Amino acid sequence: ERTFEKVEEILKKHQYKKENLIRILLDVQKNYRHLPEDVVNYIAVALELPPAKIFGVGTFYSQFSLKPKGEYTILVCDGTACHMEGSLSLLKAIEEELNIKPGEVTRDLKFSVDQVGCLGACALAPAMVINDEVYGNLTPEKVKDIIRKLKE
Ligand code: FES
Repeated sequence: ERTFEKVEEILKKHQYKKENLIRILLDVQKNYRHLPEDVVNYIAVALELPPAKIFGVGTFYSQFSLKPKGEYTILVCDGTACHMEGSLSLLKAIEEELNIKPGEVTRDLKFSVDQVGCLGACALAPAMVINDEVYGNLTPEKVKDIIRKLKE
């Protein structure tokens, strides 16, 4: 059973205002690493908005996900520079190490992986970001090492 203390705190911070919906959802995403259905319904009641509207916002913006993301959110760049430098081999290394493909999350919710557009670090291609940290000049072996360390 979930307690809604955290959502209450977030709603309060944004003064229970409909205009702050996006900011509220960003905080929810940050805290829960996705937009859980029961939390969305709770917000709908509090802000007197139809849940469908909130889910609509949640699916429209790429920052939001309706499914849980991992504690470690791996974003593999598939922009042109990284693609040319072998970003697909990095995804393959991740799949070998964690058994997940882009859009998936590990069973223990520790890791998720997604493919994203240019991260603005082309000089470091191929690159990926895990939470807020950028890793560049990667090889499949380096990716596996990084993941193994995070697993410990
Ligand atoms: Fe990957 Fe720019 S293409 S960082």
